[in-house]
Amino acid sequence: MAPSILSTASITAALLLSPASAFSALSRPQHNGKTLLRASLDDFKDELKATANAIAAPGKGILACDESTGTVGARLESIGLENTEDARKTWRGLLFSTPDLGKYVSGAILYEETLFQDHPSGKTHVEVLQDNGIIPGIKVDAGLKPLPGGLAGEQVCTGLDGLPERCDSYYARGARFAKWRTALKIQDGGPSALAVQEAAWGLARYARICQESGLVPIVEPEILMDGDHDIETTAKVQEAVLAAVYKACSDNGVYLEGSLLKPSMTVPGVDCKDRATPDKVAALTIQTLERTVPASVPGVTFLSGGLAEEDASIFLNTMNSGANAKGTRKGPWSLTFSFSRAMQSSCLKQYAGKPDNIPAAQACLAARAQANSEANLGAYVPGSQPSDQESLYVKDYVY
Ligand code: 13P
Repeated sequence: MAPSILSTASITAALLLSPASAFSALSRPQHNGKTLLRASLDDFKDELKATANAIAAPGKGILACDESTGTVGARLESIGLENTEDARKTWRGLLFSTPDLGKYVSGAILYEETLFQDHPSGKTHVEVLQDNGIIPGIKVDAGLKPLPGGLAGEQVCTGLDGLPERCDSYYARGARFAKWRTALKIQDGGPSALAVQEAAWGLARYARICQESGLVPIVEPEILMDGDHDIETTAKVQEAVLAAVYKACSDNGVYLEGSLLKPSMTVPGVDCKDRATPDKVAALTIQTLERTVPASVPGVTFLSGGLAEEDASIFLNTMNSGANAKGTRKGPWSLTFSFSRAMQSSCLKQYAGKPDNIPAAQACLAARAQANSEANLGAYVPGSQPSDQESLYVKDYVY
């Protein structure tokens, strides 16, 4: 194993404070005075653990804004903007330069275009995030494709080809964590065993490959809300999926201390008549995690999956308060947020594509970020921050 020249604390400080250029040489191993071309997981272990812990620090979570060009385009079109590169840059730049965002948000997940793009200020987006104390991350999957041999509508997540080289280039640009989203659907007889096996194996292969390049993998097996199944069915399916995911991670030697899990909350299908209370959602989500997620994983960063902004915050707060509080419940991980729709929705509406509205839109984002930060600490008072009450569910959602 290569000698570690940096303590965990100094790596964390470097992650949060240094410009991207300073990162490039951080963990590349030296041999006889020369920098080796490829490092390995062993060389990156300290740094991966420090990055994962910095992201899952108390009161912190993730802003997900890695929507594909088509999906972000649909959002921009909903406020009357054309889906141009310039419009995407202005919108994402608005998010990243929100004053004080770094008080509540430790990481932001970017789409590849954004990672390599300049901010409207002339700096790079990466620099603006780092100036705000936020670690840049990158979506590395290439999207969902039909799964031959699976049930109707089942899909498999793609993007392993060329992934090591892409991860190296993302690291060199300043990214320190990655995301791979696979999605499973609850339906008659499904998800199939084949779909679960492919989802778990793909996530584990991706996670190991990222770690070889110094990127903390966010492992994201989403159970879609589509359907009329009850919450107990979701819990049963999710438990089987997470168990398969961590078995595959073990088979692939994934370094769990340097990884994060991004599940959906355990909720009933969107068409289920029996709506679950926040207490029920919290109880079944925690039960599912406690039965399947190893204690070495530092953080569970939930996706919002179509929940309304305020509902997502209330569910998260309930998972972190009373008998569920960290230190009281059995599961040791930070339970926090990695929301896209439930962080951006009111901000987007407030923006409405008008430059004069940018400060008010940023205030909306800061409000949801603060609400979710408080929810991670079990201290959110429902209704104490403005929100968009609208359901953000989209049938057959494509990320
Ligand atoms: P939502 O919070 O909108 O579900 O998106 C989070 C995400 O990153 C999905 O991959």
